[in-house]
Amino acid sequence: MPFYQVRGTVPRKRHVQFRDNGLLLTEEVMGLEGFSGNESILYHLQSPCRVKEVAEFEPIEREEWVPEGHAHRLMNTAGLEPEGDQIGGRRLLMWNDDVEISFCRPAASMEYFFRNGEGDEVIFVHHGEGTLESIFGDLPYKGGDYVVVPRGTTYRFVPDEGSEQLYLVFESPGHIEIPRRYRNEYGQLLEHAPYYHRDIHAPTELQTHRDRGDFQVKVRVRGGYQTYGLDYHPFDVVGWDGYCYPWTFSIHDFEPITGRIHMPPPSHQTFAGRNFVICSFCPRKLDFDPLAVPIPYHHSNLDSEEMIYYVDGQFSSRKGIEIGSITLHPSGIPHGPQPGLAEKSIGMTETHELAVMCDTFRPLRLTTLARDLDKPEYAYSWYTEPDQPATADENPAGVTSHF
Ligand SMILES: [Fe+2]
Repeated sequence: MPFYQVRGTVPRKRHVQFRDNGLLLTEEVMGLEGFSGNESILYHLQSPCRVKEVAEFEPIEREEWVPEGHAHRLMNTAGLEPEGDQIGGRRLLMWNDDVEISFCRPAASMEYFFRNGEGDEVIFVHHGEGTLESIFGDLPYKGGDYVVVPRGTTYRFVPDEGSEQLYLVFESPGHIEIPRRYRNEYGQLLEHAPYYHRDIHAPTELQTHRDRGDFQVKVRVRGGYQTYGLDYHPFDVVGWDGYCYPWTFSIHDFEPITGRIHMPPPSHQTFAGRNFVICSFCPRKLDFDPLAVPIPYHHSNLDSEEMIYYVDGQFSSRKGIEIGSITLHPSGIPHGPQPGLAEKSIGMTETHELAVMCDTFRPLRLTTLARDLDKPEYAYSWYTEPDQPATADENPAGVTSHF
């Protein structure tokens, strides 16, 4: 998506004869928005329609939890045991019609190929190294990477030997893109954008598989997973070019924007989705005006919800927050630093926290997994007894650069 790429061999013109050892290759235009959006053109050894078996369809079933009260929430994922693989092990925490947010600590690797036929994906790799093998080629990934996978990409995760994997997964029926305001009219990233094309990594090498045999492709489509049996390896592409392909961007390459006084969350925006954004909070210098309050002012998210996943940093001194924690500050009620923290923050010059935030513009629904991880006491973390006003020490906080 970010810019034109070509891998393998493609013919001099589109839509002309192109052969491999005499075999006329099958040209596939994989495009968005009909024929008006970005597209890639792939050249296959087989027709991509060829299936040997239309096998099982598994509908996606969500177990919703409707809390009794509307309140700020804290969940801790750190104790979740490994489960499933990189697709089946996605454990949904919250969702709405625009985005699904899942936690994934796979216990095993995929023994099939996967394609999301109805949504874009961003997989934030909290831990783990490996290769996303895809129909567009090999895409290496490591901890801190956002792996951006456009719909229609057939892929499988192949972790490095012994590398434990931990992901936060965003799936959306809408497109997940680089924010429009970061791009000029030709698509080039502007000088004020917090990352540049050099920070974006496309597949390295195209692997053309010519082997026959039994292969399974699982496609997310129509609210479920449809498995197809193939008699050929699905990565049968000898060349492709275009703008649609998976890519990685490391959160460590996000250049934070700081100001004399507090900069709002949009300055941390990394991706734009349909009715949601994904932001990266990275280590940075804090606000430098002598009168600045370096942590955020209270704010009422009247029409948006804020989910924050705590990736790394010194959260241990902040009540209840640790690496792997998730806070959800829903719409309709204000949130902000706990009592004493604004005072404590004065004079702070930098933060070492790393966190991923997703703001949605429509309410999020919660699953029973969120219920199981919920810490109901968090809703009361702003409360102090009237005759015993809290100090920062009584309600300790670490470096709290965002809420
Ligand atoms: Fe907030």
